[in-house]
Amino acid sequence: MMDTATAPGAESLRASAPVDHQSVYLWHWPIRAMHWIAALCIVTLVVTGLYIGKPYFITSGQASDHFLMGRIRFVHFAAAGILVATAILRVYWLFMGNRYERWRALFPFQPRCWVNMWKLLRRYLFVKVDDVPHYLGHNPLQQLFYTGVYGLAVLQVVTGFYLYGLADTGGFFFAAFGWVGPLLGGAQIARFVHHVMTWFWLIFLPVHVYLTVRADVLHNEARITSMISGKRFVRADIDFIDE
Ligand code: HEM
Repeated sequence: MMDTATAPGAESLRASAPVDHQSVYLWHWPIRAMHWIAALCIVTLVVTGLYIGKPYFITSGQASDHFLMGRIRFVHFAAAGILVATAILRVYWLFMGNRYERWRALFPFQPRCWVNMWKLLRRYLFVKVDDVPHYLGHNPLQQLFYTGVYGLAVLQVVTGFYLYGLADTGGFFFAAFGWVGPLLGGAQIARFVHHVMTWFWLIFLPVHVYLTVRADVLHNEARITSMISGKRFVRADIDFIDE
């Protein structure tokens, strides 16, 4: 999301002489693995979740004969389990990763981050397109955005586990997540929140893909490849704040 931030303003420079690029290694394999596994899980959860909420194709005969809803629910819960496993890996890597992957990289703490966020905002709003800070990792706006995405994912997961726990109120999941319903105002509201969050992913995923492809095409930085190889190309003539 907001991938254009890496080299905003670079268009005019690109129009002149060819510029040198260098390769930087940003993302270790746990981050890359987490990214693609989580993406697959979220797509699976969206498709199966929407089916659970409103079965969009009807089967004939006894439910016990084909057990379609049961199978779909199983896939939903299996994907949920894998998603949570990737989240645990991500939390571990918040402390073990490099400086672009650590917890500090998810929060714009320093005052200069807020100044740069303001400059980036002006750039995005086309108010002032020069004097734009460049980052190798996520810029402060992206940091805030991705922290928000993680926060929303947590909300989806805890409401999901709460709903899961309702089937057995004497079991582990209800004991661990039973507080979620009362906190949100009841089981129906928890279910509603879980459902509405799905629409966030339905909007986020295509926009995220679009912006990444767009940044790849416009800035020649191999952004998509960076989530496979870990390496990104950056212009040698630009100073990066987080170098
Ligand atoms: C990105 C992640 C997820 C998405 C997009 C998603 C989506 C959905 C949707 C749309 C529904 C139907 C809601 C309705 O209208 O009634 C649903 C139901 C449900 N989800 Fe998720 N979900 C996600 C993660 C999880 C997680 C982590 C769990 C944890 C186990 C979970 C457990 C459940 C349960 C228990 C139900 C109700 C199933 C039933 O009533 O039979 N979900 N989910």
